[in-house]
Amino acid sequence: MSDVLALQYMLKGKHIVLGISGGIAAYKSVMLLRLFVKAGAEVQVVITPNGKQFITPVTLSSLSGKPVISEFFTANTGEWHSHVDLGLWADAMVIAPATASTIAKMANGVADNMLITSYLSTRAKVFAAPAMDLDMWKHPSTQRNLAMLRADGVGIIEPEAGELASGLVGKGRMEEPEKIFEAVASYLTGNKPLAGKTYLVTAGPTYENIDPVRFIGNHSSGKMGFALAKALSDFGAKVRLVAGPVSLPTPEGEIERIDVVSAREMLAASESVFAECDGAIFCAAVADYAPAECAEKKIKREKRDSMTIELVKNPDISARLGQLKRPNQTLVGFALETDNETENATGKMMRKGLDWIALNSLRDAGAGFRTDTNKVTLIAADGRVSEIPLMAKSEVARRMVETIFCNADNQ
Ligand code: CTP
Repeated sequence: MSDVLALQYMLKGKHIVLGISGGIAAYKSVMLLRLFVKAGAEVQVVITPNGKQFITPVTLSSLSGKPVISEFFTANTGEWHSHVDLGLWADAMVIAPATASTIAKMANGVADNMLITSYLSTRAKVFAAPAMDLDMWKHPSTQRNLAMLRADGVGIIEPEAGELASGLVGKGRMEEPEKIFEAVASYLTGNKPLAGKTYLVTAGPTYENIDPVRFIGNHSSGKMGFALAKALSDFGAKVRLVAGPVSLPTPEGEIERIDVVSAREMLAASESVFAECDGAIFCAAVADYAPAECAEKKIKREKRDSMTIELVKNPDISARLGQLKRPNQTLVGFALETDNETENATGKMMRKGLDWIALNSLRDAGAGFRTDTNKVTLIAADGRVSEIPLMAKSEVARRMVETIFCNADNQ
């Protein structure tokens, strides 16, 4: 909340249309509205007919100080609400919660309620915070609609994983109001301390081929690296995201993604962009060894009771770029350690010529591979230490970027 406090009163004079569609997460939108109002913004709430089943317009109009708009016409006076005026009045529009149905209507321009007509009429930046059950979220149709919205320039504020209203556990829970507030406030205030900077991020695993169908790999999901790319971009930086084989969409923003498979390819891609970068975060779980040879044809099982694969050492990408580093480039590595953690991590940072290392301890539940959360200790080459407690990877990424790159003393 401390960052939120810092943003208060910064939205004075800003006009926000808050669109609420019919999902249980609508109760969280009351808190979001409160944050916008506290920050000095003028907020016009537009709610869908189904939204009113979840939250009363009286609560919303009391907090916003404006009558809530829901229907095209006011029932008793027959007054017509101009969605065009509303669309032009807005500096930003936020749809939270955005249900699967609202997302589908937005993607296809189905203007059958005030919220969608306002969306279609606005020239302002639009953010949408989806909220739905996990199967609805995963459904190809929802994902297709979201891809269309992203292509249309809508800022999708990804839902979180957790317990859902249905009792199921998975991705689909609307992001917390503080986070939605921050995304919108940061857009409206132009809070971009890294504008003009470019950073390299390596992410995901590498696969080292044994033959055309088999490889040596690891369980890295790429989530932490992708979250770092997004955080850098949110602060205004350009990002070169060199990604191993992962099944993640490229985060929204000025992020150029270069897909690679092996450690050697990752090194070549990283080297090709390094000179133009102000810094790099090496988040990839690079395979330490690769088969000395990759068989041209699938290795057959017949007549083999055992087999040996000769492995050769892969290049160390972070160490290689650590040698090429200019004094004004800031390099950050990760260390996953099981014992003598601080000592090992610090040694790794020094050996590789890095400025910072983010230590993950395997002893911490919820940290590391394949989880949506992480907990890291940031250690600087000059001895500074900063703890980032267990939280969503997106938040850990934001704090890492703030601590390392947004503080002028660290450049
Ligand atoms: N790294 C890299 N290229 C490699 C190996 C590691 O860029 N070939 C980077 C990782 O992205 C990470 C840091 O180096 O930022 C440390 O990775 P880690 O696997 O913990 O260290 P290693 O150097 O492989 O040491 P060890 O496996 O012996 O702990």
